[in-house]
Amino acid sequence: MSPNAARRIHVIGIGAGSPGHVTAEAAEALAEVDVFLVADKGGAKDDLVAVRRAICDRFIPADHPYEFVTVPDPQRGPDAERDSAAYAQGVRDWHAARTDAYVRIIEDLPADAVVGFLVWGDPAFYDSTIRIVDAIGERIATTVRVIPGISAFQTLAAAHGIVLHRVGEPVHVTTGRRLVDEWRAAEAAGLTLGTVVVMLDGHLHCRELAATRPDTEIHWGAYVGMPQQELRSGRLADVIDEIVGVRAALREEHGWVMDVYALTPAP
Ligand SMILES: C[S@@+](CC[C@H](N)C(=O)[O-])C[C@H]1O[C@@H](n2cnc3c(N)ncnc32)[C@H](O)[C@@H]1O
Repeated sequence: MSPNAARRIHVIGIGAGSPGHVTAEAAEALAEVDVFLVADKGGAKDDLVAVRRAICDRFIPADHPYEFVTVPDPQRGPDAERDSAAYAQGVRDWHAARTDAYVRIIEDLPADAVVGFLVWGDPAFYDSTIRIVDAIGERIATTVRVIPGISAFQTLAAAHGIVLHRVGEPVHVTTGRRLVDEWRAAEAAGLTLGTVVVMLDGHLHCRELAATRPDTEIHWGAYVGMPQQELRSGRLADVIDEIVGVRAALREEHGWVMDVYALTPAP
């Protein structure tokens, strides 16, 4: 194979932490990969690397050798203290540093090696991998395949046994840092966002809505689909203090926590 041949890259959605989320299509793609590149965030996030390793051990046939290369993640700095412009620039710099690291590693691999990225949940939601793989493709020739995965919020809905939206209404997916502004802007415009799914919210910003929108319904889950799963639901004003306490206790116990929630406005 020519050293300039396009490098094959699989971007594989592995689901939100349970090996049971791995689809048949993802399992097939896993079995084609020779080298997995995994961002190593260090510390408690080692647990998340361990979940990825367990998935590979389970789904890749014993006669297919593969390598697991952990790539130290560049330092990103304190997101919470930045305004939106500084935050966006910080993310761009971080993507560029990651891209450099990955290109260096891929260039040193045999030209016919299939490279895999294991993406938590689905690659289409709040994950940088596709953008980084696109940036890699601007530097070296690549052939990219993306395999969808089960997202955390689908797992949340299933764990609670709910349809996320009321009949015919929308679902709005956002981050903790945008939640309150978006909710208030929609209300000011006389609109409803429908059910709002909130990811990446280390501060449970929904607390700020509890006093003025107490009848909002919340479905919350931490480590959804994983052995440590915790779920709570109810009227926002009734359950928010408990959720805040449970979240803090879980973080203390496990050293890290990932949670997601859905807010449905009172009818
Ligand atoms: C970087 S985003 C990645 C989302 C992922 N691509 C997906 O489709 O679920 C990480 C956020 O996803 C949510 N999340 C991912 N896995 C989760 C899980 N098992 N339980 C609860 N929340 C989870 C949390 O809101 C976390 O802050």
